[in-house]
Amino acid sequence: MSNSILSLKKLNLAYNKTVVVPDLDLDVREGELIALLGPSGCGKTTTMRAIAGLMAPHSGTIHIDGKDVTRMPANKRGIGLVFQSYALFPHLNAFENVAFGLRLKKLAETEIKSKVEHGLQTVGLAHLATRKPAEMSGGQQQRLSLARSLVMEPKILLLDEPLSNLDARLRLDMRTELQRVQRETGVTMVFVTHDQSEALALADRIVLMKDGLIEQIGTPSELYNRPRTKFAADFFGFENIFKISGNALVGDAGSLQVSYQVDAEYLAWRPSAVTVGNGSYNGKIVGVAFAGEHIEYVLETLLGQITASSPAAERKFKVGETIKFDLPLASGFALYP
Ligand SMILES: Nc1ncnc2c1ncn2[C@@H]1O[C@H](COP(=O)(O)OP(=O)(O)OP(=O)(O)O)[C@@H](O)[C@H]1O
Ligand SMILES: [Mg+2]
Repeated sequence: MSNSILSLKKLNLAYNKTVVVPDLDLDVREGELIALLGPSGCGKTTTMRAIAGLMAPHSGTIHIDGKDVTRMPANKRGIGLVFQSYALFPHLNAFENVAFGLRLKKLAETEIKSKVEHGLQTVGLAHLATRKPAEMSGGQQQRLSLARSLVMEPKILLLDEPLSNLDARLRLDMRTELQRVQRETGVTMVFVTHDQSEALALADRIVLMKDGLIEQIGTPSELYNRPRTKFAADFFGFENIFKISGNALVGDAGSLQVSYQVDAEYLAWRPSAVTVGNGSYNGKIVGVAFAGEHIEYVLETLLGQITASSPAAERKFKVGETIKFDLPLASGFALYP
C-alpha cells in the first residue's frame, strides 16, 4: 500500500527458537489510530518491540514511510514509545523530563523551551512545569510521558497499555485526551490494549490478535457488529454461542432441535437478540438482574445457560419461573472457526 506510514510484511518474530508471531501483515495509514487487541500472551508487546526496533525479526520486513527500516536501529526510526511504566526521570521536573530528548538532539535552548512549553500545553500540564513526577497524579504522569514522546515529533507513536495503571475515571479521561492529541497533532498511533471497550472507544481500526496471528481487522463497528469467528464474537460480547450441527444447536449441557439449517460452524446471539416470553422452547429463569437500561435474565435450558435481556420497563419474569424463549435465526450470527 503506497499511502501507508507503517507496513509490516510477513513478520516472523521469535524468542530464541520459540515463534511468537509467525506471519504478520499489517498496513497502517498516516494519522490512523490502530488498536492491537487480544488476550494476554498473543504477541502484542512483541509486535510493538519489533516495530520500535527493540527486537529484530527472524524474517519479514518493516517499512516506515516507504523506507525499509527492518535493520535500522531503534533511535533512527522516528518512533515514540509510551509504555505502561511511564519511566519518567524522578529527579527532573516536568519541564526537564520533556526537554530531555530534545537536549540529546542538541537543539538551541530557545527552541527547546518553546517545544517543551507547547508539549506541556498539548497535554494540559503547562501549569505543572516545575513539579517532579512524584508530586503528580497517575494521570498527570501519564500525560507527561505522552508529552515527552510528542515533542520528539515521531512519525509513529507506539503506546503499550498506557492506561492500565490508571483507575476507571482517569482511564476515561485519558482516552479522550489521547484522541484529542491525535486529532490535533495528526500523529499515527498504534495502541495496545487487552480491553475491548478501550479499543472500541479509541481506535479507527482494531487489529484483533490470537496466538500471534490476526484474527480479524476492521473498524470498531465492523468488529462489534460483524465478528467473523467464535473467538472474535467471544471477545466482543456475544454471550450465547452454540455449535450448529445439522438441525441442532449444541451447547455445554446438550442440544436443541431447531427449524433451520445453516452453513456455519457456530451461531451466536447477543443477550438482546434472544426472544423471551414466547417461542418454541422452555427455559427456567435462574437469574434476574437489573442493569440500568435493561433487565438481564439467565435461563437454564437444554443447551445450558442462556443470557437474555429485555428493556428495563418490562420486568416480566421471576426466578424459578419457566418461560418460553426463542433463538431466532434472523437475529443470530453465523460464525466460523
Ligand atoms: N523475553 C521473552 N523471552 C521469551 N518469551 C517471551 C519473552 N517475552 C514474551 N515472551 C512470550 O511471547 C509471547 C507473547 O508475549 P507478548 O509480551 O508479546 O504478549 P502480549 O500480547 O503483550 O501479552 P500481555 O497482554 O500479557 O502484555 C508469550 O507467550 C510470552 O510468554
Ligand atoms: Mg504486553
